Amino acid sequence: MNNINLGSNHIWLPYTQMQNHLPQLEVVKAKGSKIYLKDGTVLIDGISSWWSVAHGYNHPHLVKEICKQAKTLPHIMLAGFSNEQTYKLAYRLCKFSEMDKVFFSDSGSTAVEVAMKIVWQFHINKNEKEKTKFISFKNSYHGDTSGAMSLADLDSGMHQKFKKLLLNNFSLNLPTTQNELDSFEDFVRKNQNILAGIFIEPLAQCAGAMKFHEVNILKEIFHIAKKYQILFIADECAVGFYRLGKKFAFNYANIKPDILILGKALTGGTITLAATLVREEIFKSFLSNSLENALMHGPTFMGNALACSAANASLDLFESFNYEEKVAKQEKFLSKELTKLSKLKNVKDVRILGSLGVVEIECNWEKILELRKTFIDKKVFLRPFANCIYVMPALNIKESDLKKITNAISEVL
Ligand SMILES: Cc1ncc(COP(=O)(O)O)c(C=O)c1O
Repeated sequence: MNNINLGSNHIWLPYTQMQNHLPQLEVVKAKGSKIYLKDGTVLIDGISSWWSVAHGYNHPHLVKEICKQAKTLPHIMLAGFSNEQTYKLAYRLCKFSEMDKVFFSDSGSTAVEVAMKIVWQFHINKNEKEKTKFISFKNSYHGDTSGAMSLADLDSGMHQKFKKLLLNNFSLNLPTTQNELDSFEDFVRKNQNILAGIFIEPLAQCAGAMKFHEVNILKEIFHIAKKYQILFIADECAVGFYRLGKKFAFNYANIKPDILILGKALTGGTITLAATLVREEIFKSFLSNSLENALMHGPTFMGNALACSAANASLDLFESFNYEEKVAKQEKFLSKELTKLSKLKNVKDVRILGSLGVVEIECNWEKILELRKTFIDKKVFLRPFANCIYVMPALNIKESDLKKITNAISEVL
């Protein structure tokens, strides 16, 4: 028996009914946008490992920097010690995002939990103890930990069954028109005394339903938050780092969120790391002569030096290549190839923004599972969910590889 067989009897897989799941594909290596399987199959990857592998797999610069760091200081706790990589990343990431302070954690979900706690305590420190509730939007997804689940769409999403057990926040429809914005503002005005913050995935709700909204809607929601002194939290775990064309999705709206959440592509998809970045004013509300006002939070691997070396290397790449241009080309290509599918009768909608292409179809869950298999047969890795086939490849994928992906989608449909 090999290790895969041994482990298969013990491993519990993500989002999987373990009683009857499909066999997993055994990967032996990955390079660029190619995944090499044990049986000799080579797959073109259309979703960059849940949208994290921004520069392609095994990028030599990332590998070199990670190896260098692994030999000297893979980890040192962040309480009591400083280290070159973590502090360098704090400085660079704040400059890169134009935010002021950063709190590191391990994953997007924990960065969301940290943001919630910061928002709560921001209000507690200001003696606004009633301000405890969050607004988030239908179809949103902010992670799988309990705080993050309480920000999901608990009426229809996958976390529905936990609704009664979770924090009671407000999941509202994302406004699409001026009338809806007015009702949204009305809601905020009426509840301003208990509202602590608004969580949004700027411009594209990803894992929830791959739904987009307009720049002016994002801008208006931001201004409503400001008007009623509610913190505005941009969760850019999925859409940050040029995924939608600009460095950050909120850049389209010319706004500066109170809190920015980053993960996934932060380390170029190599090692888990996330960041909760805040504006100066928020940070300052934690300053006093008493520990009582301090943020009492500290994950063991917070600011892990190895992960930070990967993030610094990833920032080197983001800063040296014109990703805006790369993604603009991808957007053009995806528009050309996918928009023409909208005339097919099983296609409900096609939407593209930056390097995210979505083809919404008529289908059920069985069909989705079948589709996943069909794409593998076509040597392409895509993972349709809900009623969407989506593409979110490495930002530097070759056009010829992207063409194989769009061709496969077109043939399958
Ligand atoms: C917008 C958003 N926030 C948070 C998360 C959770 O991140 P993680 O899976 O690293 O916990 C995700 C993951 O898909 C996400 O898309």
